[in-house]
Amino acid sequence: KNIKLQVPGTVANLVCGFDILGMALNEPFDEMEFKLLDERKIIIRHEDEFHLPTEPEKNVAGVVLQKILEKLENQNIGFEVTINKKIKPGSGLGSSAASAAGAAFGANELLGNIFSKEELVYFAMFGEELASGSRHADNIAPCLFGGITLVKSSEPMDIIPLSSPDLYVSAVHPQVEVKTSDARQILKKNIQMKDAVKQWGNVAGLVAGILKNDNKLISRSLEDVLVEPVRSILIPKFDEVKKQSLVLGALGGGISGSGPSIFMLSETKEIAEKVAEIMQKIYNEIGIENYVYVSKIN
Ligand code: HSE
Repeated sequence: KNIKLQVPGTVANLVCGFDILGMALNEPFDEMEFKLLDERKIIIRHEDEFHLPTEPEKNVAGVVLQKILEKLENQNIGFEVTINKKIKPGSGLGSSAASAAGAAFGANELLGNIFSKEELVYFAMFGEELASGSRHADNIAPCLFGGITLVKSSEPMDIIPLSSPDLYVSAVHPQVEVKTSDARQILKKNIQMKDAVKQWGNVAGLVAGILKNDNKLISRSLEDVLVEPVRSILIPKFDEVKKQSLVLGALGGGISGSGPSIFMLSETKEIAEKVAEIMQKIYNEIGIENYVYVSKIN
């Protein structure tokens, strides 16, 4: 039996929802192909240019498959997976989550869907931990559930799929290195009550806006007073990209996950395309190699 998957890129945090909100995109996506083996073995192959490790214990998909095999301790089975990664590692567009969630989903399909989606999130978090040193599920959850998801808690697992609003996403990946582990380390350990109040007002407003399809409410809730002021310093031209996108009519946006990608939400494809153009122009002007995507929430 063979299974072929397209595994979506994701945007974590959605500006104000650090470690709890995320959305799935229809571009970019990884391709993964799975085969069930009749011995306890994991084979990883890569068909892309990224030279990621293929030893299972060092590979994001590999560690997830190892955890699944551990759970099925007495069965003589294994997995072969071929990965064609199109979501660039280190982009902040959920590349590691796609490998992790795709591995869990693909294995489960081969096994006849014996695990729930929550269990798949649990397995996939081991992959995310290998990649970034932290067990957050805000990319994995939307990757597996689709649309926008709220990770109310990851231990115990409590995931709330919200909805899939009819909005367009422009994203730019400027080729600068921002490691998730570094981008987490620089965050403040303590925050002011007045900032916390502002932040949870925004998170609640964003969730309400998503559920009510109220784009004006979404727009005025896309504000982050805790994380963005610290992390945006790592991303050249961040303020400029945001400012010019808003002038073009985008609803709002910010850092995608821990960066360096920046995303903006728009109501129409026309606006989203113009935003992508300006994003590209800003980085071309300063000679930073960049990739842009125009996508829908998936
Ligand atoms: N929520 C995580 C962060 C996403 O912002 O650090 C990165 O993978």
